[in-house]
Amino acid sequence: MEIRVHSGQLEELTTPVFVITRFQGEKGFDPALELLDGYTGGQIRLLIERGEISGKFKEFTFIHTTGELIERVLVMGLGKREEFEPDKLRGVIARAARNSRRIRCNSLAVPDFSYLGLDSEQAAALVTEGIELGLYRFQKWTMNPDRRKNHLDFITFFPMGADSDVITRGARAGQRLAEHTNFTRDLVNEPANVLYPESFAKICQERAEPLGIKVTVMERAELEEKGMNLLLAVGRASSREPRMVVLEYEPAGARRHIGLVGKGITFDSGGYQVKDDSGMWRMHSDMAGAAAVLSAICCAAENALPVKVTAVLPMAENMINGSGYRPGDVILSYAGKTVEILHTDAEGRLILADALSWLTEQGVDAVVDIATLTGAVIVALGHQMAGLFSDNDELADTLIQAGRKCGETLWRLPVHDDYLAQLKSDVADIENSGGRPASSITAAMFLREFTRGIPWAHLDIAGTATMDESIFTYFKRPYHPKEGATGAGTRVLFHMLEEWAAR
Ligand code: BES
Ligand code: MN
Ligand code: ZN
Repeated sequence: MEIRVHSGQLEELTTPVFVITRFQGEKGFDPALELLDGYTGGQIRLLIERGEISGKFKEFTFIHTTGELIERVLVMGLGKREEFEPDKLRGVIARAARNSRRIRCNSLAVPDFSYLGLDSEQAAALVTEGIELGLYRFQKWTMNPDRRKNHLDFITFFPMGADSDVITRGARAGQRLAEHTNFTRDLVNEPANVLYPESFAKICQERAEPLGIKVTVMERAELEEKGMNLLLAVGRASSREPRMVVLEYEPAGARRHIGLVGKGITFDSGGYQVKDDSGMWRMHSDMAGAAAVLSAICCAAENALPVKVTAVLPMAENMINGSGYRPGDVILSYAGKTVEILHTDAEGRLILADALSWLTEQGVDAVVDIATLTGAVIVALGHQMAGLFSDNDELADTLIQAGRKCGETLWRLPVHDDYLAQLKSDVADIENSGGRPASSITAAMFLREFTRGIPWAHLDIAGTATMDESIFTYFKRPYHPKEGATGAGTRVLFHMLEEWAAR
């Protein structure tokens, strides 16, 4: 999508749709509405007076104009002014873009939305983010796709006096972030016969190397030599060998060094303690954490953020065959601790443990891991929020703020030594499953044992990484697809890196 900022008068602007917003229950008119009303021969004002346009959130009204250059005005309801938050603009614009696509418009015009109480740069970023995220569809594998595009050809900002460079900067930033988020979605939606450790590692190289990120792929021999036995154990029953991908972004002038780890299980059958049939097919998305980390570091590099980032993506397929790891096995981890396997379906924490132990040797100031780790986090928080676990308040708060910026709610759950006893093993240093009670917390406690005391946070995105139609009936973000990957975590991690870069 090309970004244009109109430099002339409104009378000279050509567009199939000009989008404006309307708050609910107000008498006055926003500046953009005031401007556009003339083009509709006073229709907007009339429809508002008659109550046909109420400004209710989600309401949309197309009005054909009497002019020729601006063909239609689309009035989007924003709800009550007191309840406005930036994420609503993102959502409303996503809807506007989809509505416009439905009537086959390939571009939109928008005013500078700073009259909503935002700064022009942020407002422009919300607009482009909303459009790119809202038009996303995964159609790669359908032989009969909807030929309408997943993007607009261009967007025209009408600056209403604001600085056009500021608008362009914001719009580009929002667009870049959305493109990376959509890339995460593509990877998460990709089926497991296409995306497996080897192919995923190759995608990492193709994607990150052109951005100046150093990519190292550890294959089986190297993993064996290093003693990454937890990762090897989880991947042992698959004909697709595991990989550990290391991405290093080291810009000049960086003062901080942040470590990221993403769970990269390309398919989770559960192993010998095989999952039942309820939704096993969706377990191709068990690499959503790794995808989010890849996109976040790429977006950081593309924005030249002055923060050093080392990302580790352990990748394996959790399958079943005669050489698979068994319940009761004891495995020596990279960190030198032995782990008793109680459950082969608690595989995520195993591969993350080896990755965390390696990464915390690399001189990072803090480490954040992200994973579709436990079904229990869905029991606790549903699909509305991701679980946040941390032993460091400052890091936790940075992440919560980063989540607020992008409409992803993170809710902090405890990290407390009282839970550690559930992981006590009779034969090894630790067990990989603490049983049913508080199992998202005990999973986090397990991870913490491999972080060498470095400030650490863990995001459990099992409930938020994907959407389906049943969730969509009671919880939706308008810029999320009804079905499949949301791209969760990508924007959170990027905003966190942005924050570290500014320190
Ligand atoms: N990948 C799953 C968690 C998951 C469940 C993600 C549902 C997305 C949707 C994870 O590897 C897993 O199987 N966890 C087990 C752990 C248990 C055996 C201790 C779980 O949560 O049931
Ligand atoms: Mn599992
Ligand atoms: Zn899993």
